[in-house]
Amino acid sequence: PRTILLDCDPGTDDAIALWLALASPEIDLRLVTVAGGNVGLEKTLPNARAVLGLAGARGSAVPVVGGADRPLVGAFRSETQVHGEDGLGGVVLPEGPAAAPGLAADVLRERLRAAPPESVTLVGLGPATNLALALATEPVLAGRVAEIVLMTGAVGEGNWTPAAEFNAAMDPEALAVLLGCGRPVTLATLDLTAQALVTPARVAALRACGGGRCLRAAADILAALPPSRRFDGRGAPLHDPCAVAWLVAPALFTHRSVSAAVVLEGPDRGRTRIDRWQRGPAPANARLLERLDADAFFALLGERLATLG
Ligand code: BDR
Ligand code: CA
Repeated sequence: PRTILLDCDPGTDDAIALWLALASPEIDLRLVTVAGGNVGLEKTLPNARAVLGLAGARGSAVPVVGGADRPLVGAFRSETQVHGEDGLGGVVLPEGPAAAPGLAADVLRERLRAAPPESVTLVGLGPATNLALALATEPVLAGRVAEIVLMTGAVGEGNWTPAAEFNAAMDPEALAVLLGCGRPVTLATLDLTAQALVTPARVAALRACGGGRCLRAAADILAALPPSRRFDGRGAPLHDPCAVAWLVAPALFTHRSVSAAVVLEGPDRGRTRIDRWQRGPAPANARLLERLDADAFFALLGERLATLG
């Protein structure tokens, strides 16, 4: 299995991504770090603890550490309309294990320092602040990273501003650090996650997988997602689990090499500029995930989550 350090901001879809990671033998989840994002850190950290705790011994064995409560530059803004005031769409989970001591970026650096070259996969499911702080303050540690897998950005329109996806918009400077760190970055953008549409039929199919409390909580969380205007009310995209699914079942995806950068100035701040056809001079620095076999993805979710809790 691949050694994973995962940063998140739970967040309804972050919760499901964490359960998918915990339930998947292809992944050895060693650390969960948390930032403010979908809601403030004072909620995302207890949410992350509760999500891990619900998964029983497997989840409680993974240390969870709090980190950035704001982006590298500017003030914190949150997105309560999608994830509810509590960040989990109103689904109440029992309190989880205590957070481990330390700050996310410090603990990430410790873990990377102790790791062999190119051995660790970093997964980012929220604003990129914690991961960027870890790498920017000790750039040599990028050499320990095998791959950085991010749910962030968009080739086409954004979901936070017309131009920018939420995670990229929340901390574009941090995303720029990751895109420029010299290690392979894999991008699960909005264009990919739009294919993972949560519909009533898919929620019903998930419930029918039986399983324990994580699967039931996941189905409750998905049922509470407000259908997106972008999809004419047909459903809502399930973003973050797509990034984890890439590590679990890469055969479900197609991908291509691209150059990717993030706009830092002006009204398009936070927009990812992705050169799909490599028309410009910038060398490829990212792998863009393009097509997803959505039915197989939801089947995988049901199958794996049914084994948890
Ligand atoms: C991203 O923003 C948050 O709403 C989700 O958790 C996901 O990480 C999608 O734009
Ligand atoms: Ca997220």
